[in-house]
Amino acid sequence: MMITNHTHEQGRLYSDLSWLWPIISPPEDYIPEVAQFVRLIQQYSRRPVQTLLDLGCGGGHNDHWFKMYYQVTGVDLSESMLSLARQLNPEATYLAGDMRSVRLGQTFDAVVVADSITYMLSEDDLRLAFTTAYEHLAPGGVFVTYAEENRENFEQNSVHTSTQSLENIEVTLIENYYDPNPQDTTIEVTFIYLIRQAGELQIETDRHTLGLFSLDTWDRLLRETGFEVDRVNYEGEDIPLFVCVKSG
Ligand SMILES: C[S@@+](CC[C@H](N)C(=O)[O-])C[C@H]1O[C@@H](n2cnc3c(N)ncnc32)[C@H](O)[C@@H]1O
Repeated sequence: MMITNHTHEQGRLYSDLSWLWPIISPPEDYIPEVAQFVRLIQQYSRRPVQTLLDLGCGGGHNDHWFKMYYQVTGVDLSESMLSLARQLNPEATYLAGDMRSVRLGQTFDAVVVADSITYMLSEDDLRLAFTTAYEHLAPGGVFVTYAEENRENFEQNSVHTSTQSLENIEVTLIENYYDPNPQDTTIEVTFIYLIRQAGELQIETDRHTLGLFSLDTWDRLLRETGFEVDRVNYEGEDIPLFVCVKSG
């Protein structure tokens, strides 16, 4: 049995442990989310939608389904996640960049930021990411994002477990959500991975810092960016989706 301890390491899922991403969060899991995004984009857009920019595209699991509808460009900070995305979606364009500052010099008919928005840790971060979306959107285009974690739905010290397998590797993921300081805008998430392969157990730990804001803050920052904002419920879940139109 091999036990490895990386208690103090942050964000390993997007670096040395990125190979776990397609196992713990397979592309098939993204079908309902993308169907919902596409429906909202089609419903709200004031222009024909052919091109889509995915900021914080990660391993390209959303894009795997978006590409059935749109010509996809993805941006992410992590080279190892981008290389997973390129393998999965050779038809898409993938570029390294930070959603708070990247400027591609082109506009798109739609922009999305899915789960990656949770890595915006301050109001300034959120505002910068929303501005990037705005700057890359053609007039009449739609930006969709969602507040999976927010002040209103946060449960202190919650634990979630899940098990997924791919070929001969089985991974059990234990996730713990904890807010050490409710006065600030961040929470800490600790992941423990139990990786079982050929009778061997490997244990890895990983920490992530996520942002936590009230829904009013999301709403206000989106409007200050210049968007017309509608808040809708993520079907079947307690997650607010923001559908934002750039008028023009
Ligand atoms: C949960 S993953 C996204 C998964 C993705 N939705 C998919 O379909 O595979 C979160 C991603 O956010 C990226 N990320 C975090 N901060 C970022 C930033 N400031 N700019 C761009 N990407 C960022 C990470 O590198 C990581 O790949």
